[in-house]
Amino acid sequence: RFYGSAPVERIPSFSEINSKDIGYFKSILGENNVIQDQDRLQPANTDWMHKYQGSSKLMLLPRSTEEVSHIMRYCNSRHLAIVPQGGNTGLVGGSVPVFDEVIVNMSQMNKIISFDKVSGILVCEAGCILENLESYTDNEGFVMPLDLGAKGSCQIGGNVSTNAGGLRLVRYGSLHGNVLGIEAVLADGTVMDMLGTLRKDNTGYDLKHLFIGSEGSLGIVTKVSLLTPPKLSATNVAFLACNDYLSCQKLLIEARRKLGEVLSAFEFLDSYAMNVVLNNLEGVRNPLPPAVHNFYVLIETTGSDESYDREKLETFLFRLMESGLILDGVVAQDINQVSSFWRIREGIPEALMKSGAVYKYDLSLPLEKMYDLVDEMRARLGHPVKVVGYGHLGDSNLHLNITSPKYDDDILAQIEPFVYEWTSKHRGSISAEHGIGLMKANKIYYSKSPEAVQLMVSIKKMMDPNGILNPYKVLPHSLSANN
Ligand code: FAD
Ligand code: MLT
Ligand code: ZN
Repeated sequence: RFYGSAPVERIPSFSEINSKDIGYFKSILGENNVIQDQDRLQPANTDWMHKYQGSSKLMLLPRSTEEVSHIMRYCNSRHLAIVPQGGNTGLVGGSVPVFDEVIVNMSQMNKIISFDKVSGILVCEAGCILENLESYTDNEGFVMPLDLGAKGSCQIGGNVSTNAGGLRLVRYGSLHGNVLGIEAVLADGTVMDMLGTLRKDNTGYDLKHLFIGSEGSLGIVTKVSLLTPPKLSATNVAFLACNDYLSCQKLLIEARRKLGEVLSAFEFLDSYAMNVVLNNLEGVRNPLPPAVHNFYVLIETTGSDESYDREKLETFLFRLMESGLILDGVVAQDINQVSSFWRIREGIPEALMKSGAVYKYDLSLPLEKMYDLVDEMRARLGHPVKVVGYGHLGDSNLHLNITSPKYDDDILAQIEPFVYEWTSKHRGSISAEHGIGLMKANKIYYSKSPEAVQLMVSIKKMMDPNGILNPYKVLPHSLSANN
């Protein structure tokens, strides 16, 4: 059922749903928010990559924090396991049930609670879709500090729970900095009001950070308060070609020095990624024809002075083209070109899914070593497997994706544990931004010490003694709460 994952046993102490449970949920949520219909359960049981398939028979759609609290208190007392679910765009099998866990889907909690036009602080419910928040803040003259290809479906609660990075992290930093407060419901139904709106608050342990990136294993995030930066008037996007990875690296160093204050994205893709996009997405064309170059870099600048920013970028590009670091390049002339350049970069995950079976890795690695892994994998795997490299170069985050016509255990055995060992040897992280989920629960030691994992297990046991919240995920199965 879960290709590529070690087999997991259902934890026997979890109860199974019965008609009394359904009656209780209907009494607190209303008939329409208790979903047992197979047609609606099916997509919620399947992840975005179609790699993980659960068999939940029940999805609940709470509309308020109080309803989430009632659900949790009840499930805890009945030992019913829960999987919190946002937009279900997660890439590590964290958002779908492994067995028959109750799906608590947050999509109905999608209200904006307040927006302060002076400070740019947004307070909203966890089920707000990222793109809707982007449109809302845009209307108010602000932007969301995070952006990612899944913005049309992912929810802010899911973003916070995975500590999503994305395309603007290089400029605005991670959610650990931008999230000012959280409201979360614990496994026993306790509502934790940590929904501060202060930039600075050093009163004791900053508990909200436990919920940022813990993938629904410690509580359900119900509200979020977020610092949004002002929208600046001038955005420029350049699509550039480089001959080799070293040139991309040098380009990043130069961009940081020369475009520092306006640089808002620095993304890269190799020729394999470009070909996957060109071959699988409708209406996408190569902005730098005729040939496909070895590497492409997308640079975005965002600043407040239209002509100054553009001139600054063009002078920068001209100088580096003369020096040979950039082989070819184009600066978007209008909003349509801006979106067509971004479509190439953001469309890679979708294009990969259309190209066959995908083995997806999301690694933090030292910048200078990052692409060596892609080359080594290519040498190791050979034809007909394709090794595709792209990612957030500005954050030293490589997305290593391997595709083959069909899923094959032998190919997986050639990739793992090699990729994890290589990453660990270079003191990288086996999850830069996607999380651990089910996919890497047993691999966490490649990036964390036994002492750190043990402390995580203790925190989990203290906050969720019955282990009902997103079981089988994040922590090694041998140490999960019920063992
Ligand atoms: P889900 O997928 O529903 O859930 C993800 C995890 O969070 C699960 O463990 C779930 O149990 C938990 N969860 C969800 N909501 C809550 C809640 N309210 N309370 C507690 N736990 C909760 N990630 C990046 O970091 N950067 C990218 O650039 C990026 N690009 C992507 C592009 C595409 C096309 C896709 C499909 C995914 C991409 N992702 C990226 C993966 C990323 O993790 C998600 O898109 C997003 O952050 C998950 O949000 P979601 O609402 O879909 O959460
Ligand atoms: C991206 O940067 O495109 C996302 O993290 C998704 C992916 O890696 O496939
Ligand atoms: Zn990414």
